[in-house]
Parts: sequence; C-alpha cells; structure tokens
Amino acid sequence: MVTFVQTFHLSYQQKINARSFGPDFLWGVAIAAAQNEGAYNVDGRGLSIWDTFSRRSGKIKGGAKPTEACDFYYRYKDDLMLVKALGFTVFRFSISWSRILPEGMGRVNKEGIAFYHKLIDECLQLGLVPYVTLYHWDLPHELQKNGGWTSHQMLKWFTRFVTVCSEEYGNNVKNWIILNEPMGFTSLGYMLGMHAPGKTGLGNFLPAVHNAALCQAEGGRIVRALVGKANIGTTFSCSEVIPYTQKEDDILAAKRADALLNRLFIEPALGRGYPQEENFPFLEKLHLYNKAWKYTERMKFNFDFIGLQNYFPITVKYNALIPYLHASEVKAATRKVPHTAMGWEINADSFQRMIKRFWLYGGVKEIIVSENGAAFKDELVNGVVDDTQRIDYFQQYIAAMLRAKKEGVNVNGYLAWTLTDNFEWSEGYAARFGLIYLDYKTQLRTIKNSGYWFRDFLRQA
Ligand code: BGC
Repeated sequence: MVTFVQTFHLSYQQKINARSFGPDFLWGVAIAAAQNEGAYNVDGRGLSIWDTFSRRSGKIKGGAKPTEACDFYYRYKDDLMLVKALGFTVFRFSISWSRILPEGMGRVNKEGIAFYHKLIDECLQLGLVPYVTLYHWDLPHELQKNGGWTSHQMLKWFTRFVTVCSEEYGNNVKNWIILNEPMGFTSLGYMLGMHAPGKTGLGNFLPAVHNAALCQAEGGRIVRALVGKANIGTTFSCSEVIPYTQKEDDILAAKRADALLNRLFIEPALGRGYPQEENFPFLEKLHLYNKAWKYTERMKFNFDFIGLQNYFPITVKYNALIPYLHASEVKAATRKVPHTAMGWEINADSFQRMIKRFWLYGGVKEIIVSENGAAFKDELVNGVVDDTQRIDYFQQYIAAMLRAKKEGVNVNGYLAWTLTDNFEWSEGYAARFGLIYLDYKTQLRTIKNSGYWFRDFLRQA
C-alpha cells in the first residue's frame, strides 16, 4: 500500500523539471579521458598508469583494458551531438596528461594538443560550455616510474602540465577543475592497491595525499595566473558515514572514516590544514604539516566553486582487524536496503545532507554537483534499454538537490555521470553508468530510456 507520505513524495518529484532550478542552473554530463578516449597509442600519446596497470593480471575485471574504451578520440563529434541532442549545455571532460606530455615532463606532443583544441572548438560550435578537468586519475607512466604521486617532484611535474594546458586552452576554456576526487586516487591507487598504480600502505598513501593537497591548490594558482576570467574549482568525493549502531565504538569508527572520506582534502583547501580527529593516529603524520605554516598556506586556495561527487552513503562498524581505521563497512545488501549494481546504497536524503554539510563549512562560494549517477544491469532488448531504476535514481537525487537549494545552499549545477557506458576503472566494462548504452564490439550507441528522460526533463526548462 502506498502511504500518504509516499504519494506526496512522488507527486512532488513529478512536478520538478529543470525550470524548478532557475534559468542559470547548469545541466551537463561528465566523462574522463582514460575512461572514454581509447586511442591509447596513436598520435604520439605516451602510456598512462591505467594502460600499464591494466596489463597486470587480475587487476581489472574480465582483464579489460582502456585501449579502445568508447573510441571517443575518433567519435567525439558524434558524442557531442548526443550531448546536445539530450539537451545538456555543459560538457565536462578531462585532458590526458600523456597525450599532451608523453613522458609527463619535457617535450610537448603537438598532436595531443591539437586533439583538445578540436574537441573544445566543437563544444563551442555546438554551444556546449566546456568544463575541463586537469587530472582525472591517468598519470603518465613515466612519472610513476619515478614515484608518481608519492614523489616530492610531483609539484614540479604538475606545474608543467597545468601551465601547458592553461596557456594552450585558456582563451577558449574558462571553467577548470584541478583534480578529480583526490581521495579516490590516493586511497584506491596508493593505499589499497585496487586502482593504478596499485601501490599499498601508509608509506605511499600519506605522501600521495600531501602532494595531491599541494597540487590541488598550486594548480588553482597557476590557472588563476594564466587564464583571464577563469572559473576555478576542484572536485571532492563525499559519502555520508553512518555508524551501524549507537555504540561508542561504532560512532568513533564512523568519525574516523568520515575524517578520511570527507574532510581530508576540503579542509586543507579551505586553509584549515588536515582534519584533526581524536583517536586517529592514522593522520598524525599529516598533522605535522599543519604545524608548518607554509604548508597550511600552500594547500589553501580560494576556489570559485567546488565540485561535489556523491554516489552513496556508507554504514560502518568498529572492526579491530582493519589496520589504522579500525572500521569496516556493513554493505547495503547485508542491510537489505536499495542499492545499485555496484552495491552502493541509494539514498537521496543523504545526498541532500552532504550538499548542505559542505556548504555549511563556510568559505565555499558555490557548489556544482560535478558527478552523480548509478550503474545498473542494463540490457539492450530490441533496440531499447529500459533502465527505469536509473530514471528513478536521477529523479530522487535531483529532487534532493532541489531541497538543498531551497534550504539556501548555493548549488548551481548538476553534471550527470556519465554520457556513454565507459571503462569503469577496476570494474572494466562490467559496470554501466551511461545515459547511452555502448556495444563495445561495434561501438554502437543507443540512448537509454534514462537519456530520453533527461532530455524531457531538460526540455521543460
Ligand atoms: C569517478 C569516476 C567514476 C565514478 C563511478 C567517480 O568516483 O570520478 O571516474 O567512473 O566515480 O565509479
């Protein structure tokens, strides 16, 4: 039986359309170079850590590699037409560092440079506003050979890359995102070994975190200096952390996980240094940097906006067996709550709370939801992908974002993740997040029903 509250909730959701957010709200779609471009070895491109990591057996589901991915390098015109056809006005993509600087440093690859000029020009011709991510997880392999994000040279390498990109594209691109989810690539790539470059342990993680926090701010300063009228942001992953029970052990476990997942990069960016959390020796080494004034200052940057990327909340309980963190997740499936094909809990209220929480930090000028979306087990049947679960997900999350906006949060944009199904990192091609279904054998694109839903939603603006 549908309760009164549910009926109210449903009718409220149905009334929402893009117009509810006002005429200036940005609606877009996001992709990333390593996940979409393919063409990994053409036109002078160097290898990235995802090319080499994916060659190691057992690292990626099904042995998948990003070598061809969505063939975006050759099909970008078609894909941009699809973005346009669905009614989006913002297109977020990232620049492959190893296409621009095949060795990470040193010589610039003219053909790589030319590709992004063509892509940007095409966006502008179609009336799509480009949002360019400088680093979306695909470090040049040559730099990883010298330690990658753990190396003290990282700042120098990143400075060069950001300088080249700003000088090349700054006339036509005004919206810049410095890092994509620094917590994502430092934890998965340098602590847990699940993502490229597959490094583990605190000895890798802590220097990677510190270098990323420095590069995040330094990247902002470089773009500010080189690009006139730039609108500069960076993105943070966020997941509300909920204690499994109200026992003190579980509450403290949730606090530790929260410091790590939600506070580690925004607080230094806001000039507060690394998060201080009692009973959390894990971060002590980073706290030493807080004591050195120069680091607190250098990790700070006055971003014009922050990009929030929220997919799910997590529930944690105390677990003595997990090193340092002493916390482990109680999965959504175990708790029998709705979840996506990734096992991620679907909880739009939590999304609303997280948007509000980041806003309440103070010092954040504007929030753009720079990624949000869901993977489900999509099937193409007679030319149709009837992904009602994804439509429902978007409806719920967008309604939650509107509630946050009405509560006074300056949230001004929403970029759906993602355009086409693509290379989902360690999940390979198994997880489908796209609004457009991709047949990886033929590269045929089929707009899913969620894509059509978005088109109708935007049309009403
Ligand atoms: C990343 C994307 C990824 C998505 C879904 C985000 O953390 O920025 O690259 O595909 O989550 O896992």
